[in-house]
Amino acid sequence: MSSIRVLPELLISQIAAGEVVERPASVLKELIENALDAGARDIGVTLEEGGVRRVQVEDDGAGIAREDLALALARHATSKIASLEDLEAVASLGFRGEALASIAAVARVELTSREKAAPHAYGVRAEGGGAERPAPAARAPGTTVAVSDLYFNTPARRKFLRTAATEFGHCEDVFRRAALARPELAWSLRHNSRFSARLKPQPLAERAAALLGREFTDSALEVEAQAGGLRLSGLAGSPQAARSRADAQFFYVNGRFVRDRLLAHAAREAWAELLHGERQPAYVLFLELDPRGVDVNVHPAKTEVRFRDARAVHQFVLHALKRALSPAAAAAPIAYAALAPTSAAPTQAALGIEQPVAAYQSFIAAARPTPFAAAAPHAAPPLGYALAQLHGVYILAQNEAGLVLVDMHAAHERIVFERLRRSLEAGAVQRQALLVPSVFRAEALEVATAEENAPALEQLGLEISAAGPSELAVRAAPAALAAGDVAALARSVLAELREYGAAQALAARRDELLAGMACHAAVRANRALSIPEMNALLREMEATERSGSCNHGRPTWYQLTLSDLDRLFLRGR
Ligand SMILES: Nc1ncnc2c1ncn2[C@@H]1O[C@H](COP(=O)(O)OP(=O)(O)OP(=O)(O)O)[C@@H](O)[C@H]1O
Ligand SMILES: [Mg+2]
Repeated sequence: MSSIRVLPELLISQIAAGEVVERPASVLKELIENALDAGARDIGVTLEEGGVRRVQVEDDGAGIAREDLALALARHATSKIASLEDLEAVASLGFRGEALASIAAVARVELTSREKAAPHAYGVRAEGGGAERPAPAARAPGTTVAVSDLYFNTPARRKFLRTAATEFGHCEDVFRRAALARPELAWSLRHNSRFSARLKPQPLAERAAALLGREFTDSALEVEAQAGGLRLSGLAGSPQAARSRADAQFFYVNGRFVRDRLLAHAAREAWAELLHGERQPAYVLFLELDPRGVDVNVHPAKTEVRFRDARAVHQFVLHALKRALSPAAAAAPIAYAALAPTSAAPTQAALGIEQPVAAYQSFIAAARPTPFAAAAPHAAPPLGYALAQLHGVYILAQNEAGLVLVDMHAAHERIVFERLRRSLEAGAVQRQALLVPSVFRAEALEVATAEENAPALEQLGLEISAAGPSELAVRAAPAALAAGDVAALARSVLAELREYGAAQALAARRDELLAGMACHAAVRANRALSIPEMNALLREMEATERSGSCNHGRPTWYQLTLSDLDRLFLRGR
């Protein structure tokens, strides 16, 4: 057996580099963080061959003094902290004094820098470790760090690098995360001498539009909440902007991009009721708190954090997001606040809801005064008044801004869902006994499920009992659903109870279950509605939280403004 030896300095750095410098993107991340810590206002990134040949970051920050240049490349040399106290309250992105040394151990590094007051710049070079003497160089105040030939001296690691396109993709991710977090700075990204991004200082919404696309920002809701030393700000994507992949989720803690289970969980919960199935919300969120309340020194790449009071952080984030996501009923594609109030009383006001049709009686009875109506009793309602029904699918309505198009089925489903949820939260879903029980053929297992789960079914507003060895009878159904196909409803609820058990179905899967139930009630396409029925639906939408999208995240209505219509007809106004 060999004896114990102290490892040479370079080898120590190469081992450390394995943790910090995984691929070109991790080099880029460290260089960008250094530029940000130096107070840069303008950051330029240049890559060659996905960063494998070269990663270069230029900044206009504070610069490094001549005598500190070599030190910047040494291990455990940092200007950012000096004591354990500093470490516990670290506000800068870097603090270990390890990044540049680790990079220099596995690549060729050129560091050129000029302090604001210095007459000119100095440069040093390091290849696989120690730096040479600084030599005078030309450069405006700021710093350029160029890292070439990553892993030139550790071929085993080089083998793990992927194609240039893949590595570039990772670098782009790093760039996007950084540029999103600091919209007030100018950024550029060049790959193989082609610009792939040039961003001037701009507000967050514009930066997000440039990097994540307009479909996200156009419908995103602004988040701004503060409590107990915590602040959450940023943009929360509406359900319509949800994606099939979780590729537009950006969470920052004190300016640092993190992948944190706790925060991701809070976000998932906040969107849970709005998004069913596998849809992933989009968001750009910034959590700020006293640096002493969060430990960033838990992961080599600093992408994980640990909160001192994890529970409080979770609750705060969850509630701040929930509030942001349902600001007022029917808040969807258009901002009503922007609409100028008009003095002309709409003639449609006469179209009240005087003669509700049977199927809508329960609906209308439950309709409460809308928040809008309460605020301004004479103003026209936000979703306006129904004009007609199109192909039995859409309601056309006129409001102050122009034309409103409503997907009848989706809107009704949302309303029924919210109603079921409210009444279940209050105890049990309101039941209505059926004059004629609905009898259907059932398998033995279904009959057994119905018998075993009678209390759960009752909570859900259903009374189902055996009508024979292979027949079940629905004797009561939720009031909001009684007019629909109650046998199909009963079948799907029984299937859910059988699969997940009553406890699980009523707790963790409650919203899926209720959404499934709501599906059975909703006005099916091709059902003719009278004008008063349509108006009743519009009023109910206004009174329902989050009625802007259906239970599956699809929009329930769209606004076409007069100017949208003018544009369609090429009418200059
Ligand atoms: N772009 C830059 N502008 C000004 N100073 C810089 C720049 N890059 C590095 N430095 C200086 O070099 C030092 C070492 O940088 P390095 O990234 O190795 O460590 P760090 O940022 O202090 O800590 P960490 O290892 O956590 O990143 C920094 O503390 C800073 O003083
Ligand atoms: Mg650093």
